[in-house]
Amino acid sequence: MLTIGMLTSGGDCQALNAAMRGVAKSLFEAGETVVYGFEDGYKGLIYGRYRKMTERDFSGILTRGGTILGSSRQPFKQMRIPDENGLDKVEAMKGTYRQLGLDCLVILGGNGTHKTANLLREEGLNVVTLPKTIDNDIWGTDMTFGFQSAVNIATDAIDCIHTTAASHGRVFIVEVMGHKVGWLTLHAGLAGGADIILLPEIPYDVDRVAAAIEKRDRAGKRFTILAVAEGAISREDAALSKNERKAEQRRYPSVSYKLADQILEKTGKEVRITVPGHTQRGGSPCPYDRVLASRLGAAAAGLILERKFGFMVGIVNGEIVPVPLGEVAGRLKTVPPGQLHHPGGQADRHQLWRLRNPHHMGGCRKRQPPAFCVCRGTNRGRIDETTPE
Ligand code: F6P
Repeated sequence: MLTIGMLTSGGDCQALNAAMRGVAKSLFEAGETVVYGFEDGYKGLIYGRYRKMTERDFSGILTRGGTILGSSRQPFKQMRIPDENGLDKVEAMKGTYRQLGLDCLVILGGNGTHKTANLLREEGLNVVTLPKTIDNDIWGTDMTFGFQSAVNIATDAIDCIHTTAASHGRVFIVEVMGHKVGWLTLHAGLAGGADIILLPEIPYDVDRVAAAIEKRDRAGKRFTILAVAEGAISREDAALSKNERKAEQRRYPSVSYKLADQILEKTGKEVRITVPGHTQRGGSPCPYDRVLASRLGAAAAGLILERKFGFMVGIVNGEIVPVPLGEVAGRLKTVPPGQLHHPGGQADRHQLWRLRNPHHMGGCRKRQPPAFCVCRGTNRGRIDETTPE
């Protein structure tokens, strides 16, 4: 008999339920299995809040958004800090695991979640994880589930803005989720035909943004749409100290409002702002995410049945692969400036990226090899200790 625990942690996203269903159905199919579902992420594991789940719990949830287990943010940084009653959270999690006689913990989450999962692995627990997030920023996998569904929603938002922007001849900002990475903004921006795309990875030059808007004006284009990541930052703000930057950011509800002020000042044009916000994480998963989550779920079950623990299941070049947790934790998959450069071709895409990217307007100087979707060896990550979640 196999006894597993399951939890979903961090910000929710589409296809969490599909992924859990993939794991559970595969395990139930393989033999006698007991599944404990922990409520609200690591909180349930810490405070022993769980329920025994049956096969029926995993039926009819393939298309359902959110998570049937609930989720919460339990920052990795605070895991080693006792709670308000002096409880040692890590020891408490280990205690729950042992008390239930778990053979493995299945953890679905993003970057912060993976750091804690790796900590539990280092503490001797058997852990298998699945990569969820609309940000697609988990190292070691080309794609996370949730991402494509969110791209659809953010693209729809840009599409809707297109018609009204064109009618009124206005400048619009669509603010897309993503504090640290711009995959979602990049993909929705390209898919939605945004005229300017600003990502957290490349601090923007407001003079170039203004010049691009004015150039469109001169060319007789009546409107401009900017797809702006919520973590986009101006060059000036990027040069500030952390505290100065925080103080500056507090002056505006979000970066879009600051940018709108800057554009008004430089061009005299009023800017309208649309923030789809958490709608990007909501609703049912798109077919791609349902399939990806189901495949990853089944692969996670396969690892458990083979008693292979300490891995995240990812997708690399279309193949579902186990990636050692120690390699994943603490790394962030950011958009490299040369993401759309493909040696030996795709000049049109390169041009598109250059046109869309104020940083590169007037000539792209940074030629970097493609660092994404090529193979794991070149799927670059960088250590980032401040990842939220
Ligand atoms: O990590 C997913 C994400 O939706 C990010 O894109 C966004 O910056 C953040 O979560 C929002 O977090 P919260 O739901 O806690 O406001």
